[in-house]
This record gives sequence, C-alpha cells and structure tokens, in this order.
Amino acid sequence: MTDTAYHKIRTEVPPPPAGCPVDHTFSPFADDYLADPYAVLAPRREETPVFYAEELGYVVVTRMEDVEEVFLNPDVYSSENVQDPVFPIHPAAAEILSAPDFDPVAVMSNRQEPDHGRIRKYTKEGFSNRRLRILEPYIVRRAHELIDAMVDAGPPAPFVESFAFPLPGETIFRFLGFPESDDEKLRAWCGDRLAFSWGKPDEAEQAAIADKMLAYWRYCREFVAAKHREPGDDFTSELLAAHDADPEDLTYREVESIVYGLSFAGHEPVTLLLGNCLLELLPRREVWDALCADPSLIPQAIEEVIRHESPQIGWRRITTRDTVLGGVEIPAGTPIFLSLGAANHQPDLFPEPETYDLHRANARNNISFGKGIHYCLGAKMARFEARLVLEALTERLPSLRLVEDQVIERYPNISFRGPRELLVTWDA
Ligand code: HEM
Repeated sequence: MTDTAYHKIRTEVPPPPAGCPVDHTFSPFADDYLADPYAVLAPRREETPVFYAEELGYVVVTRMEDVEEVFLNPDVYSSENVQDPVFPIHPAAAEILSAPDFDPVAVMSNRQEPDHGRIRKYTKEGFSNRRLRILEPYIVRRAHELIDAMVDAGPPAPFVESFAFPLPGETIFRFLGFPESDDEKLRAWCGDRLAFSWGKPDEAEQAAIADKMLAYWRYCREFVAAKHREPGDDFTSELLAAHDADPEDLTYREVESIVYGLSFAGHEPVTLLLGNCLLELLPRREVWDALCADPSLIPQAIEEVIRHESPQIGWRRITTRDTVLGGVEIPAGTPIFLSLGAANHQPDLFPEPETYDLHRANARNNISFGKGIHYCLGAKMARFEARLVLEALTERLPSLRLVEDQVIERYPNISFRGPRELLVTWDA
C-alpha cells in the first residue's frame, strides 16, 4: 500500500508512551461499553483523561479541550489513519484488496495538507444549500413512499431495514448521480463497511466485506467514466468539470476516490443517526408529542440527539512528532483515539449530561462532526435529512412507538453507534 492509499494496514502496535497511564481493561468492543460508553468513560475522563488502552494500542483522549486541541492541530495530529482497519487485516481480505486495480487514494478525511485543502475546495458547491434544495423533493418523496410501504405491511416494522438504511443510501446515491436502477446492488455493496475500518471482523466476514469494497470500487470507476462521457446535474459531474478545467489540481483518480468515500460517509452515519433519533425520542413521550404538535422544535431535538447519543462517538489521529497532550508526553507515531462521546458528556460543559434535554441551549457545541479543517462536510446534509425524516414521521405516524422489551444490538466498533435494528409499532 502506498502512503496515499485510502486504507492503510497497520503492522506495528507502539508501546504505551512513558508516563502515560495504562488501562488494561478499557475496550470499545466490550458489552458494557456497547451498552453505555458514557458510563464507562466518565470515571476515566475525571481520573486519567488521557490514557493508553492496551487492547487497542491507542492513546485515548476524553476531555473536550484535549479533543479540540487535537482536531485544531493537524500538523501534529495527522488524520491519515481514520479509514484504516483498527487491527492488522486477515490474509484472505489482504489478498482480495491486493488486486492491482484496487487503488483508491486518500482524498479528504484521511488526506493531509496541502492536498486536503486543494481537494476540499472543489466540494464546496456540491455541499451547498443549492444542492440540498435540489435533493429535498427526492428525500421527502422517498420518506413518504417508505412510510407508505411500512403502513401497507402493517405494524410492527423493522425501522432500520425498512427506512433508516435505504433512505440515506439512496440520498447519497442520487447526490452522486448513481441511477436508481443500481440501488439494490449498491445497497448490498455498501452495507456493513463499518466493520472493516472500525470493527473487529473475523476472517470470513472481513473477506466478504473486502469483496464488496472491490466490486464497489470497480463500479465507481466505470460510473465516473460514464459520467465523463455524459455529464448530468450531479456532484460527480461537477467534480469532473473541475477536473477537466484543471486536471493537475484535481486528478481523475481523486474524483473516483471521492465518489468511493462518500458512499460510506454519507450513508451509515445517517442511518445510525435516524435510529438514534427514534431510540431517544419515542420513549420520551412528552418530547415526541411536543414535536408532533410543533415541528419547528425538530432541529433542536436532533441537535440534542447528536450530543447525547451521537452516531459517531470516536475518531482517530496519529502523531507526526513528539508532543504533550493533557500533560502527558506523547511520542511521534502514536495512534490516538478521540472519544467524542466522552467529550459530549462532560458535565462542566453540559450540565447533567446524561439527561436528554430538548431545550439544552448549547447542545450545538457538541463535537460529533469534528472541528477544524476536516470538519464534517456532510453535517448540514445529515441534519437536513434527519429533519425531513422526522417531519414526515411526526406528521404521518404520531402514534409511533418502540416495540416493548426488544433487545437493542449495536455493531461492535470503535467509532459509530446506533441500533442494528429497531422494531417500531403504531396505531393502525
Ligand atoms: C450524522 C451523520 C454524520 C456524522 C456524525 C459525521 C461525522 C464526521 C466526523 C467526526 C468527521 C471527521 C472530522 C475531523 O476529522 O475533524 C467527518 C468528516 C467527514 N464527513 Fe461526516 N458525518 C456525518 C455525515 C456525513 C455525511 C452525510 C457526509 C456526506 C454526504 C459526510 C462526509 C464527510 C466527509 C467527506 C468528511 C471528511 C472531510 C474532510 O476531511 O475534509 N459526513 N464526519
């Protein structure tokens, strides 16, 4: 793999930095963390806010000021490892991904300056209000069609399978310009990708994901070539026009790689956000009823979900030089795990952090979309989609509720959080 490869494979686990507290028990894959990461992290944030997690081989950062310092100093804390598998990958997957034509390059989240800024400037128009307005009627129509299908089939419904997974996928596919006729195979290729870069898949599972990644990359290449011949009103065509205007400043391979990366970035975190919205809002009946009565409250309800139960509770960096963080000396080459979830639950910033408070004035100060030069490009789109979805659900199904006594399962991984499935019911 080259330095600019999209996914790099880690082969060495550095030892704990001298003087850094070592935690032998912390594991983001453990049941207690999956059930309640905030409870697991709260005592650590108070006592050892920067610690080395033996299981991961990462230095974990839990306080908001330290997380922000990392985000705001990209020269010291490189984002090159954010898409890499957490553990060395199994031989079967390595073999699949060694195909000579599997060569996406790091483009945004995992690309460093000055290239990152050079590439990111071309995405401005794509993520503008204009393109969101173009997408709006599509999202609203599909939201209502998916609700129609749920209603026709009758309660109860698996919300993730029937709504939260398809809608954000289709939205990003339309944004990129993929034809609707390809949705089924695209959905099959793009699911469970989070296990590859952020989970602990077994060999067979990892090989199956690698197969899909390769198939999807090949699809992206053919698709970009077709768009180059026949442009449309979509983000991919915009990028290709920029490439044609200055082929050195935005390379063709970078355009292909942006398309490849956005299908994940724009899909699964939003699926998890929609699941978390219902998990948070439906059991708090007074909040749900308030949103049904006054949909103008929906944006602030979403913002508090993003703080209290974010779909993304961890992210990564690696140090490029020796540094000091939270009073702990950290050598160059140390992988860092940023606990966005712990920072979002810091009591001196968010009083009674474990309480979901619809009227919390500073909910928007959460760190769930990152900060600085890599601040989430899709933050506006994610909030926009969630708003349109909650507007449709509160209007059409005000009696929506969770099926009682269901066990909520979550994907074991270090970054993303949300229900694998969520059974919902309503008064038919
Ligand atoms: C609720 C949903 C989402 C969450 C919580 C989320 C969170 C994040 C976070 C934490 C980062 C890294 C920030 C950093 O490293 O400083 C990020 C970066 C990014 N996100 Fe999102 N994201 C979401 C949805 C989306 C969507 C819908 C898209 C695209 C359509 C998207 C595209 C990106 C891209 C391209 C980057 C890299 C930007 C760069 O490096 O310049 N995200 N996101």
